[in-house]
Amino acid sequence: MTPQAESTALREQIRRHERLYYVYDAPEISDADFDALMRRLQTLEAEHPELITADSPTQRVGGTPRAGLAKAAHSAPLQSLDNAYSEAEVRDFDRRVRAANGGEPAAYVAELKLDGLSMAITYVAGQLSRGLTRGDGRTGEDVTENLRTIHSLPLLVAAEHRNAAGLPADFEVRGEVLMPRAAFQRLNQEREDEELARFANPRNAAAGAVRVLDARITAARRLDFYGYALLAEGRSLLASQAETMTALAAAGFKTSRWKLCPDIEAGIEFIAACERDRDALPFEIDGVVLKVNAEPLREKLGATGKFPRWAVAYKFAARQAVTRVRAIAMSVGRTGALTPTAELDPVAVGGVTVSRSTLHNLDEIARLDVRPGDWVRIERSGDVIPKVLEVDLSHPRGEQAFEPPARCPVCGSGVHREPGEVVLRCVNANCPARLKESLHHFARRGVMNIGGLGPALIDQLVDSGRVRDLAGLYENVDAAMLAGLERMGAKSAANLMAEIERSRGAELWRVLYGLGIRFVGERTAQVLAAHFGSLDAVAAAPAEVLENVAEVGPVIARSIQTFFSEPANRELISRLQRAGLDPHQQPAAAAALPLAGQTFVLTGTLEHHTREEMKASILAAGGKVSGSVSAKTSYLIAGSDPGSKLAKAQELGITVLDEAGAEALLAEAQAPPEAKAPPEAKA
Ligand code: IVH
Repeated sequence: MTPQAESTALREQIRRHERLYYVYDAPEISDADFDALMRRLQTLEAEHPELITADSPTQRVGGTPRAGLAKAAHSAPLQSLDNAYSEAEVRDFDRRVRAANGGEPAAYVAELKLDGLSMAITYVAGQLSRGLTRGDGRTGEDVTENLRTIHSLPLLVAAEHRNAAGLPADFEVRGEVLMPRAAFQRLNQEREDEELARFANPRNAAAGAVRVLDARITAARRLDFYGYALLAEGRSLLASQAETMTALAAAGFKTSRWKLCPDIEAGIEFIAACERDRDALPFEIDGVVLKVNAEPLREKLGATGKFPRWAVAYKFAARQAVTRVRAIAMSVGRTGALTPTAELDPVAVGGVTVSRSTLHNLDEIARLDVRPGDWVRIERSGDVIPKVLEVDLSHPRGEQAFEPPARCPVCGSGVHREPGEVVLRCVNANCPARLKESLHHFARRGVMNIGGLGPALIDQLVDSGRVRDLAGLYENVDAAMLAGLERMGAKSAANLMAEIERSRGAELWRVLYGLGIRFVGERTAQVLAAHFGSLDAVAAAPAEVLENVAEVGPVIARSIQTFFSEPANRELISRLQRAGLDPHQQPAAAAALPLAGQTFVLTGTLEHHTREEMKASILAAGGKVSGSVSAKTSYLIAGSDPGSKLAKAQELGITVLDEAGAEALLAEAQAPPEAKAPPEAKA
């Protein structure tokens, strides 16, 4: 099946099961099977962002996303660039340009070729009014709301700056949206924590972020924008590319490294310098663009059907290499998941020596049909982790197909594969490998930040039986014990003790994140901390309450509840609390919202809103939504054909609102305090 066909089929299946679950309250499959379908779709969409549709169930994400992306025509087509793969091809390009320039050398502007997505952004009266993706080059998709979340993109270019830059009130900027490397690594870490598929490269991650229907997701992805063209009424605004770049910077746009080159030699030098500095840049580039500087010469050169004749993209060689797979090893993560890794003959790839590459899971091994002893082509692209692209069949094949292990390679316990999952897991909750990974996660930067607690030390602490769980770090580790360990001087022991002491005062979200609850990444931990304010409050929250916290879906809610209902975990929490780790914070954000503490039940058919929309508005105002009427219900919102819930609410004397009443209540909840009036109740 093609990815396209598979994603279409998955969407249909998921929609049907969602209807069965949310609308008819009559699920046909288990939650785990449902999650597996959803995860498979998310993986496909992560790998092929172009397959994401506006109505994909993955785009719901508990907010008020728009219905779809509108399309609009570009003021002038967005062309692509002709490529050059060698110096000779660059010189060929220059020869053609010189021929059009009466045989004279032409000046070029050399710019980085940013590996992102091109955008056309219109400003009206200096205000950002519309942003379009490239689309098919003539028509793009309207992603204005998403682009607005990019902090480096000016929402307004004030008259003062327009004047300084020589810009009219209405103009268009073209340029590239990209995801900086740091944001990309952070996003992938988050996705790994939440057991979602990693994005293969920043470009795919940016493409997904730009096209989602919920701008809050774009915002969380920390994109950046760099300009490289200025137009007015579909025509180039200024007389040269150098003036364009200068004007963009003066108007407050980011521009990437560029240089005015008097001739092609200078351009070729710039290319070499950029290739050298490539790894030091905060974002990915895939080459250098050479553009004729002067507008009149550009016009003379014109364009072919596809590309302008006045520009060329010199593409850097892909950072690939071929090497031999020594073995396929299995490592055990903190959830017990066994991840296969290809151990490779060390090989240089774009200046970095690579000796390992992840194979992700058993399906990936099967897809690649990779065996120990095979030669493989690997690539470094954006991700620090190199990827195995394919088996190189010009070398002899490895003898034996890879056999998935029947036992955990670390503790020898059995392994288990959930139906519908591609992951093998060690069944032993106390597997030392899991404990080591849990400690590593807990201590790492960005979580509890315990400097000095590295893998070698964790190995010693766990293997010697001194630390048997996270709390053991606080209960059993002291300077005297540390000083007795290998390669541990008195000074390092004292430093580590100071770090452990300091970590007792960590914020609540760090502790929640550090516990390693499945699907609870940094962001979810922060949301939970802000909402509940203490470990005890999170631990006591039933799944329905957790689910009603913005951004926490049913899967995460269930995982959190399962974690805290486990007696061993409760015990662990108490011991951590006794060790002084019991951060409290004011759950201010939620309490301050107008509908905080109010519970709503929806019934019947609404005319102007879907239930999802109504639910999202209630949640956004701090209210909760429950599935059944009880004495705790504050309001029943009844549409047409309300059924038994209405009778029950009336019996209990609960306020019943019709759709208009609910709208009024929600409008009031969003209005400033002085505009408040009580909503009208339905008789
Ligand atoms: S100029 C007609 N400048 O490369 C000129 N493009 O392969 C159009 N790109 O779709 C583009 N960095 O997304 C230009 N400094 C740069 C660029 C750049 C990246 C992308 C752009 C375009 C693609 C063409």
